[in-house]
Amino acid sequence: MCKTIFTYVALLFLSTNSVFATHHMSGAHNSATKIEMGKQLYNNNCASCHGANLQGADNWKSLDEDGHRKAPPLNGTGHAWHHSDEQLYQIIKYGLAKFVKNYQGKMMGFGDILSDTEITSVLAYMKSTWPKDILEKNHHMNK
Ligand code: HEC
Repeated sequence: MCKTIFTYVALLFLSTNSVFATHHMSGAHNSATKIEMGKQLYNNNCASCHGANLQGADNWKSLDEDGHRKAPPLNGTGHAWHHSDEQLYQIIKYGLAKFVKNYQGKMMGFGDILSDTEITSVLAYMKSTWPKDILEKNHHMNK
C-alpha cells in the first residue's frame, strides 16, 4: 500500500514535471531551431559579403572597387536595427532595388532562393546576435 502511494506520487511528480519540461522546451526548441536554421542559411547565402560573424565587410564604410557601398554589419553595430522586421524582411526578399531608384549596389533580393520561412529564420539569427539595448531600440521601429 505504502509502496503504491509512493509510486503514484512519484509518477504524478514525474508527469507534471515532464509536461512542464516539454512545454517549456518546445518553445525554446522552436526558436533555437529557427535560429540554427537561419545561421546555416546565413552562412550559405550572406556570409560571403556580410562576414562570417555578421561583422560586415572590411572597412564597410568605404566603397568597393566598383564605387558601391560594402556590406554593412548585421550584428547590431550597423544600421540594420533602424529597420522594422517588415522592412528587413523586404530588403532581404526583394533587395534594395525595390527601395532605391536606379539602385546600382550589390544587395540583391533573395526571394527566388529563400522561402519566407527561411528569410524569417535568417532574421531571427541576425537578431539573436543583437545586444539587448539595440533590440529594445529596434522594438520601437516595429510599432
Ligand atoms: C553580394 C554581396 C551580398 C550578399 C550575398 C548579401 N548582401 Fe546584404 N548587403 C550587401 C551590401 C553591399 C549592402 C549595402 C547595400 C547598399 O547600401 O547599397 C547590403 C545590405 C543589407 C541589408 C541592409 C542593412 C542596413 O544596415 O540597412 C540587410 C538587412 C542585408 N543586406 C541582409 C542580407 C542577408 C540576410 C543576406 C543573405 C540572405 C545578404 N544580405 C546577402 C551585400 C550583400
